[in-house]
Amino acid sequence: MAQSAPFVDGEAQHQLLREGRIKPRGLMPDCSNYTYLAQVRGPDGAETLAVYKPGPGETPLDDFPDGTLGKREVAAYLVSDALRWQVVPFTVYRANGPLGPGSLQQFIVADLREHYFSLMPARAAAFRTMAAFDVIVNNADRKSGHCLVDRQDRIWGVDNGLTFHTLPKLRTVIWEFAGEDVAANLREDARRVAGELALGKGWVNELRALISAAELRALTQRARRLAEVGRYPEPTSRWAYPWPLV
Ligand SMILES: Nc1ncnc2c1ncn2[C@@H]1O[C@H](COP(=O)(O)OP(=O)(O)O)[C@@H](O)[C@H]1O
Ligand SMILES: [Mg+2]
Repeated sequence: MAQSAPFVDGEAQHQLLREGRIKPRGLMPDCSNYTYLAQVRGPDGAETLAVYKPGPGETPLDDFPDGTLGKREVAAYLVSDALRWQVVPFTVYRANGPLGPGSLQQFIVADLREHYFSLMPARAAAFRTMAAFDVIVNNADRKSGHCLVDRQDRIWGVDNGLTFHTLPKLRTVIWEFAGEDVAANLREDARRVAGELALGKGWVNELRALISAAELRALTQRARRLAEVGRYPEPTSRWAYPWPLV
């Protein structure tokens, strides 16, 4: 890494993630797939760090089709962005990645001592939003360590690849709000996004390239149900908790 390379953020960083050259630098600790820390470089020498998940590096699973986890990572970002909840860091799909097509996500400089269990209950507001997001995307793997806090004290949810299944698969550590009413503003956002999904314009066209038509319909229904029922679900079995928890 050149000493003088300018690290960028904001829209310039998004542009780099969309188009920059990806150099995988090493595997992330605690990854269950081949998940790389990557350096991303633009033609002008600008650089940023990212998490690159090439499809060929995915560990096959029984319940999700092979090679689709990276697409689900990007779909989760699109839904987070459409909701305007900023749960998921900026993520793009790179069809031409050096180790195969996959997701490329903004690297969050996080305090690794912190995770869901250490951040609760002080950060309950942020986790109420994340829990509502996980219901909408049907997240099957929200571990405590997938909740990161950055230097601006913002909380992010990473590892969102096990999402959008058509069958109920919510599997999470965030059950503190079970049975509570979802806040009116979150329900309003869910209602708006359900409407956008039903219309199928704009960002939904991007989503259609990432998940199946049946998954898109199920997503629309979950968003609508959260808006209408407005209550956080209860765990129905031990399966509702991921392992390991952190
Ligand atoms: N965008 C990110 N920024 C910073 N760290 C990340 C990011 N995404 C993942 N990580 C870290 O890397 C670890 C492994 O990534 P994860 O997404 O869980 O990979 P896998 O799909 O292989 O399980 C996570 O537990 C987290 O600590
Ligand atoms: Mg993981």
